[in-house]
Amino acid sequence: MNFQTSAMAAGNSGLTRPPLKVPVTHQHIFTILQTLIAEGRVPRSDRPLRILDIGCGDGRLINSLQSLFTRHMPELQVEICGFDIGEHGFKDSSQLSGTLELLTENHPGIDWSNRVRLISDGDPWGYEAGSFDLAVSNQVIEHVEDLQHFLVNLRETLAPGGQSVHVFPLSQCMQEAHCLVPFSHWIKDYNYRVAWIALLSRLGIGRYRVDRKLLGHDTVARHAEETAKFIECWTTYRSFGEIARMAGNLSMATSYHFTKNLLPTKLRQMMGRKPARKYRRWTPFGIEWLSYLFVRSMTSATLVISPLRYDIGERIAKEKAYRAHREQHEAMREAAE
Ligand SMILES: C[S@@+](CC[C@H](N)C(=O)[O-])C[C@H]1O[C@@H](n2cnc3c(N)ncnc32)[C@H](O)[C@@H]1O
Repeated sequence: MNFQTSAMAAGNSGLTRPPLKVPVTHQHIFTILQTLIAEGRVPRSDRPLRILDIGCGDGRLINSLQSLFTRHMPELQVEICGFDIGEHGFKDSSQLSGTLELLTENHPGIDWSNRVRLISDGDPWGYEAGSFDLAVSNQVIEHVEDLQHFLVNLRETLAPGGQSVHVFPLSQCMQEAHCLVPFSHWIKDYNYRVAWIALLSRLGIGRYRVDRKLLGHDTVARHAEETAKFIECWTTYRSFGEIARMAGNLSMATSYHFTKNLLPTKLRQMMGRKPARKYRRWTPFGIEWLSYLFVRSMTSATLVISPLRYDIGERIAKEKAYRAHREQHEAMREAAE
């Protein structure tokens, strides 16, 4: 069965059973992958479909995707791999073993130690060129300091025609995604940022109550200082334009098309409804753009980034041949006159 027909079968296989309980961003990413597969936008080959989770953290997205593919596209052979940056998500080796344990417990029979790895920030990702058909990342890009390095590796790692899906907050998002204090990442002056977080924390807005227990932030002042430091040191928010420009310079296309689908998917989940089997691709341009503007201000955006191939030699050869043909034609006409 090819990718498209198995995407169609996807709907039927899940009809009678209740939907798997996975976080909404995981479901959203899976529905996008289903959509891309059903539309024939994913490279086809005899080998299993290879998917890379970039910045896989504790492996929960890999876990969800493996379950969702098994449930909804059982005919499709998939091989899901992931890596993370040692310095960020994994402070000690026990976190990697935790990831392996989670995956092995839920999906026995797969050698996850061959599939999940740690590298150092700034190192090449280390996969063979073109070895993945799809790549995904969830809440990662806003933590990536060197986006150029990230994109160069992404382009190298994806097979020709490969696609990547990234869910993360853009700089326009009003809510700072980690401390949940609105606008705190927009304030560039450090002292004002601390003061703003302290003010809103006193008003009960943000994560102070949670972080008091979780991280031992015993006073509002300490919470504000630590949170401001986190934003300064561990986040780099960018706009769609910045990312698209950088990707464009590396001959990669960037689209925010699926951004609009995250909130409806969340709504369906809250109402206990089955997730969509496939997202609709072209809504009228204006509506699509307006919904993108709305969603990116409220929550994470979704970008699809894909390497492009354009044969400039072929274009030049065609142009030359056309000009030569015209010149020949004109010369013949002049000779005839
Ligand atoms: C908020 S966590 C998200 C983890 C996971 N994707 C999830 O959804 O649970 C952000 C992750 O991005 C990783 N990260 C940061 N910079 C990265 C980079 N340049 N390349 C790959 N991963 C990176 C961090 O190590 C961290 O695990």
